[in-house]
Amino acid sequence: MWVTECFLLCFYFSFLDSVTSLAFTGDRSPPKKVIVTGAAGRTGSIIFSSLVQDSHYDPVGLVRTERKAKKIFKNSHCGLDQMCVCDVTKLDEGFPKGLDGAEAMIICTSAKPKISKLSIVYQILCIPLNIVTRKKSFNFRGLRFWYASGQSPEKVDYEGQIAQIQLAIELGISHIVLVSSMGGTDPNNFLNSIGKNKDGTGDGDILIWKRKAEQYLIASGLEYTIIHPGLLNDGIGGISEIMLDIDDELMKNEERSISRSDLAMLCIASLTIGKGKNVSFDCTASEYKEETDIKHATLLLDGFILSGKTCTYQI
Ligand SMILES: NC(=O)c1ccc[n+]([C@@H]2O[C@H](COP(=O)([O-])OP(=O)(O)OC[C@H]3O[C@@H](n4cnc5c(N)ncnc54)[C@H](OP(=O)(O)O)[C@@H]3O)[C@@H](O)[C@H]2O)c1
Repeated sequence: MWVTECFLLCFYFSFLDSVTSLAFTGDRSPPKKVIVTGAAGRTGSIIFSSLVQDSHYDPVGLVRTERKAKKIFKNSHCGLDQMCVCDVTKLDEGFPKGLDGAEAMIICTSAKPKISKLSIVYQILCIPLNIVTRKKSFNFRGLRFWYASGQSPEKVDYEGQIAQIQLAIELGISHIVLVSSMGGTDPNNFLNSIGKNKDGTGDGDILIWKRKAEQYLIASGLEYTIIHPGLLNDGIGGISEIMLDIDDELMKNEERSISRSDLAMLCIASLTIGKGKNVSFDCTASEYKEETDIKHATLLLDGFILSGKTCTYQI
């Protein structure tokens, strides 16, 4: 009799536990393992930290150096096993360990141009002449940039992204969320000239290499969500109206930027809403207005995907 009562009590409490757990989490499936590459970057680190705090996810952050790994480890309070050091331009030397079982990958790596200090000095010296000749006092377009050896857009944004897609295939990952950039329909976009010499030689063409990598992903057969943000800023997320469209239509608007926090929300929403949908889109956000009713990124992305729109790569 006593044994039967104990059994019934145990059954009752385990049933109660299941119901309350379901009520709070929606499901009891194990957390989804997600690889975030460029996890030390300004967008990647927001995504990684948000996923660390979300019990639905078990993120692993890929960073380029031990120094960056320590920084992210300290800031995000993740576990040591959630950090992986690797240079995406060297994935052919061997795939990193600890990534088995991942279901999705968010790619946030990108080549970073370095500014030529000499060009800053030169443009400052030009200011008086520019004022006299009634030109813009500081000519930002006159600044010169360069990429570190082996870290050009071709190496990081094309070959490095292809290597990451190959890594995903090797690991049996089904879905990739790729953060790229708006402006890819125009080969003459200013961003493509960054890193090039005056005669057009040298490293550059970042948007062209990013777009080639996108096309590689689309042809790979993996599920994909490709996001083209406008100019990124470090503003607060969730307070501006996010706008989604395709084929650089948003470039026609006056407001062409979006915060990295809003972009991060779109990336995280893509893990669920974008799964199996294969979509490529652009995003910007409107200026903050107090009375605006802000739609959450998840709802917005859901509605956009239902519209059936996706970027055209013939352009
Ligand atoms: N900035 C903008 O206004 C803008 C506009 C549109 C689109 N985007 C795109 O949006 C994405 C996120 O931008 P963001 O400004 O947040 O990025 P970010 O801060 O520049 O981060 C890029 C990350 O890529 C990592 N990385 C670069 N080369 C690597 C390599 N060989 N191996 C491993 N990791 C490497 C960097 O590592 P380290 O930390 O070690 O350097 C960094 O963490 C990028 O694809 C960017 O091109 C940016």
